[in-house]
Amino acid sequence: MTEVGAPATGAQTAIERGAVWSRYWAQGALHSCATSYAGNYGGALATFWRGVFDALPSSARVLDIATGNGALPQLLLQCRPHDALRIDAVDLAAIDPPWLRALPAAQRARLHLHPGVAAEHLPFDDATFDLVVSQYGFEYADTGRAAAELRRVLRPDGRVAMVLHHAASRPATLAADEIAHIDWLCRPDGLLAAGARLLGPMARAATEAGRRALAADHGALADRERFNALQRELSQRLQEATCPDVLHETREALARLFEFAARRGEAAATAQWHALATHLADSRLRLAELRACALDEAALRSLAACIRPGAKAVFEPLREADWLMGWSMRIDPV
Ligand SMILES: C[S@@+](CC[C@H](N)C(=O)[O-])C[C@H]1O[C@@H](n2cnc3c(N)ncnc32)[C@H](O)[C@@H]1O
Repeated sequence: MTEVGAPATGAQTAIERGAVWSRYWAQGALHSCATSYAGNYGGALATFWRGVFDALPSSARVLDIATGNGALPQLLLQCRPHDALRIDAVDLAAIDPPWLRALPAAQRARLHLHPGVAAEHLPFDDATFDLVVSQYGFEYADTGRAAAELRRVLRPDGRVAMVLHHAASRPATLAADEIAHIDWLCRPDGLLAAGARLLGPMARAATEAGRRALAADHGALADRERFNALQRELSQRLQEATCPDVLHETREALARLFEFAARRGEAAATAQWHALATHLADSRLRLAELRACALDEAALRSLAACIRPGAKAVFEPLREADWLMGWSMRIDPV
């Protein structure tokens, strides 16, 4: 991003983007870096946030923008389990994090989730919050309009702290690799389409008569040959991939679909195939958004100036072992 604006990922509307993220969060993930952090964010990210949260007054009001399944509120409640802090957390998506159900009632009462709320239209009064936070979230919005809203709801003596995507980070690099794999899988003549052509033959192969008919069906034999050739290509890609997960997952999902077709028939398997295609398209959109909103240093400076003109922003690259994971940014009152 070189200027403040909406992520340049294409023509998706806010409703479509919200639906993609809603489907993602409904699967129950706590955050979207599952390959980098099991459980909640740890290491350098958690250390940064503990520093921010430890400094809060005990009855502070905190806003988390683009909260997802609430990874940051969870961390805050863990850091300050007995304080009277109130946390509001908004997201464009229809979020309902499963971990909330296990939360003690006193902590649950302090966390207020606002699903379906855009950072560009915050439903809060002026000068409400002592601290506004966001993790891999604020940069997904139309940052010019979201910054105006953030300024409006932040108290004059309030603080801002964020973790943001870095254009040269490990997640951004992995996203590029994964997008290339999804594009390969989803080509019109790619593995996914070739798998769809085998659902009928797999269903027919469930009976002896079907197998005999298939042995003489040259179209089906050619489809099988094509699929096998793509499987060999996939094995080659797997050896060269930096982020092979989507290749492994799709290969396994297709194998399961073929078994399913043999048991339940072609129509049921085709419905499952469409679900797999939607899953891949959703992943591609999320990864493309990540890349489109990742910031270089100049873009980060202009974003900080837009959030709080004249204030001093402190930002640093966040590293986890050998990997660059993003930017940390803190903006204190002017
Ligand atoms: C990468 S996820 C990060 C979620 C969470 N902060 C975390 O660290 O796990 C990005 C989130 O931004 C949300 N989002 C995108 N555009 C938004 C907008 N304009 N307003 C509010 N949320 C938005 C998405 O729905 C998604 O949940």
